[in-house]
Order: sequence, then C-alpha cells, then structure tokens
Amino acid sequence: MKKHLDEETRKSIENSLERGLFPQWVLTDPDIYNIEMEQIFLRTWQLLGHESEIREPGQYVTRWIVNDPVLLVRNGGGEIKAFLNSCTHRGVHLCTADAGKKKSFTCPYHGWSYNLDGDLIGIVAGDKIYGEEMDKKDWGLRPIPRVEVYKGLIFANLDPQAMPLEEFLGEFRWYLDIMLGRSDGGMEVRGVPQRWVVHANWKMVSENFVDPYHVQTSHRSTVELGMSPEDPLYASYGHGVACNHGHGICVITSSPKSKARPVKYQGLPQEMWPMFERNLTKEQLEVFEKVKVLVGTCFPNMSFNCPLHGNEGHLYNYFNVRVWRPLGPDKVEVISWFLIDQSAPEQYKEDAYKGYIGSFGPSGTLEQDDTEIWARVVQASKGFMVRDKSLNYNNFSNYLMGYDHVAPDETFPGPGVAYSTNYVDFMTRGYHDYWFEMLTKE
Ligand code: FES
Ligand SMILES: [Fe+2]
Repeated sequence: MKKHLDEETRKSIENSLERGLFPQWVLTDPDIYNIEMEQIFLRTWQLLGHESEIREPGQYVTRWIVNDPVLLVRNGGGEIKAFLNSCTHRGVHLCTADAGKKKSFTCPYHGWSYNLDGDLIGIVAGDKIYGEEMDKKDWGLRPIPRVEVYKGLIFANLDPQAMPLEEFLGEFRWYLDIMLGRSDGGMEVRGVPQRWVVHANWKMVSENFVDPYHVQTSHRSTVELGMSPEDPLYASYGHGVACNHGHGICVITSSPKSKARPVKYQGLPQEMWPMFERNLTKEQLEVFEKVKVLVGTCFPNMSFNCPLHGNEGHLYNYFNVRVWRPLGPDKVEVISWFLIDQSAPEQYKEDAYKGYIGSFGPSGTLEQDDTEIWARVVQASKGFMVRDKSLNYNNFSNYLMGYDHVAPDETFPGPGVAYSTNYVDFMTRGYHDYWFEMLTKE
C-alpha cells in the first residue's frame, strides 16, 4: 500500500494547483485515498458529536473516525470520555447500538465488562482463570488519544501531537461563534443524527459546501417551486471567505436590488435578539444581521449549513452539521446532525426541524439534488482518459472562477481572506492547498 506520493505525481498535482486546477483522477485514485488516510485522517480533528447528545452520566453514542469505531460516553463524574469501541480481549466491536444509557458495557463474545471510565471490571468465571499473569488494570478500553470540545461540539484526534483544536479551527472560529455562541445555553441536537451512504468522493462533497455556484443549476427545482429567486446570481451575493487551515465559509446575503423586506438575524424570533446582541461582538452582529445563509466546510470533512428557510411569517433557521466519513475513494457515509438554539421557543424548534427534514435530511429535496450530482462526478472520473497522466488530454477540473479579477475585500469585518462575491473559487482552492500541504507533510 502506498504511503507517500511519488515525486512525479507530487509535482504534477502541485503544478495544477498553482494554475487554479485540480486533477480529476485524484477523486477516484486508490493510492491517493490510502495516502489521505495516513496523512490526513490520522492527524486532523474529527467531529464526533455534541455535548447535548450525552447529557447524563452513562449516556453514550457510537461513532466512527473513518475505520476506527468510537464509543463516546459521559462518565459518572460528568466527564466526556472516548474509547476505541473494541474489546481488549479479542477485539470485538463492543457496543453496536447508535446511542443509549448504561452503567457498564459487556462484550457479546466472552462477556468481559467495562465501566464508564473504560476500566475492565468483570471477567466471566473470575480473574483466577488467568492466574497471576493478568492485571485487570492493563486491559481497560483504549482511549482515543485526544478529545476536545468547542462550544458543545466534541472533536477527537488520533494524533497525540496534533495542534490544539482551537488553534486548528483558527479564523473559522469567529464564524462558528456566530452560530454556536449567539444564544445563552448554546445549541442542542434535536432528533438523532441521520446516516446514509452516497457515491461520492469525500473532498468533492466537502468542497461542495463552499461552492454556491452550483445552487442555481443543481437546485433549479427550488426556483421552479418559487422557493428560490429567479436571479441566477442569487447565491453569489455576500462574501466568500477563505480561512486558514483549509476552512472556508460563504456568507450569503440578499441581492442588493431585492425588493423583499429585509429579514434580521436569519428570521430567529425577536425575543431572542437582545441575547444575540449581548453575546456577539459588533463585527459579528454586522454579519449576522444581514446574512441569509451561512454555509461552509471545516477541513477536512465537516460541513455545515445554517440557512434561512420558509416564507414570511414562517421563517426558521437551524444549524445542520455533517461529517463526510470516507468509505473508499468513491463512497461516503454522511452523518448529519440538526442543531438548534436551546433557548428558542419549543414550537419554533419543531417547525425548524421539520423544515430541515424536508430540505437537507436524507430524503430532503435539496439533499437529493446534490446526491445525484456527486455520484455523477465520481462516475465520470474513473475511466482511462481521466486517469491518463500523459497530458494528452485536459485532465484537470476548473477552479478558475474569480482567479484573476476578484481582489480581497479589506472592509469585510470578519477574519480570513474575504471576497465580495460567493462566485469565486478561492475557498475551494484554499481547501485544495491545505489538502496538498497535509498530503505531502513529512
Ligand atoms: S472478545 Fe470481548 S470478551 Fe472476548
Ligand atoms: Fe447543494
């Protein structure tokens, strides 16, 4: 199995990135995929869940970091613990329920059991069958090397030397705070996260969330249903922002020519406004006040969508965050959480949840538009012509939008490099550049 790029491939990818291109074969290449696993997924922060999913001692959820099963649990003292979800006796996948509440975990193979701190506490037929040889202390569950929480979101990293989570989120935190830090009590997960499998490459779906250029074509049906404006530029208004470490965000606003009455704070109930004004900075409020949709990707594979949905009188907003878990170069498991301000009125939460299910849930209209397109990208990226690196063909995808004529907007109040339109490829290119940096890191 290849662990590093050979020199020729490295140069060819580097050369294409410098020209604002991306090699199409990279989306389906098994060698690249294996290198990505070692170089990226073994070293970067991965979203596991949200604190509100495991509020009480004994509550747990089971998740994956690519192929490592993870048991995420709140222990008796209220701390969050994450273990490799594998029995230390013979390696069985210990707990296979998605979520639940327990005092201990018992292995279905030979019955060893573990407490909420991962200690081995029970051996069927007693310790004596192992004699003096075995000390139970040595056979506890293996902890995930790093677990850190940011505004309720629980992340893990398999690399004990990884940079701290807050440093990794970097400039992107300022934008996350608008969504996760605006309300007292923060956000909470409603329902259970949905999971489904799509035929797609993990990078392609991640970059789709910083590519609003697709919206007016892929989601044309929403225009025809009168849910989105006719103007083909409608997703371009606002600012596209490339942040450090490959993260990117689109701050989408209404057309400056729109005649519709402006909606403040994404249509969230007016009784919540004083709280936003207390919790956010002047600059964050300046962005939040006018924004319609905040959508983006946190490198490598966490994307989110925080939209304004509905019609006048029935507007709602939520924070939908998803992890694109790679299952191969052309397959991704989507894990999608619905989060909402804990302090929002109950009826509002329920209406927003229904709105999410109908749009970005697995059977949602917008989700299905995207799923179809993503599959078509990998479908057409596997053949001989795309994989021929002899340069007889143009084997590169185009990331040249705004390349030579859009300059950064220095007046934008948020961090990162901001451009005064979302129809630019600076966010996707920032994502690719960081991907390449990680891929080739010693
Ligand atoms: S594999 Fe778990 S008790 Fe044997
Ligand atoms: Fe889309």
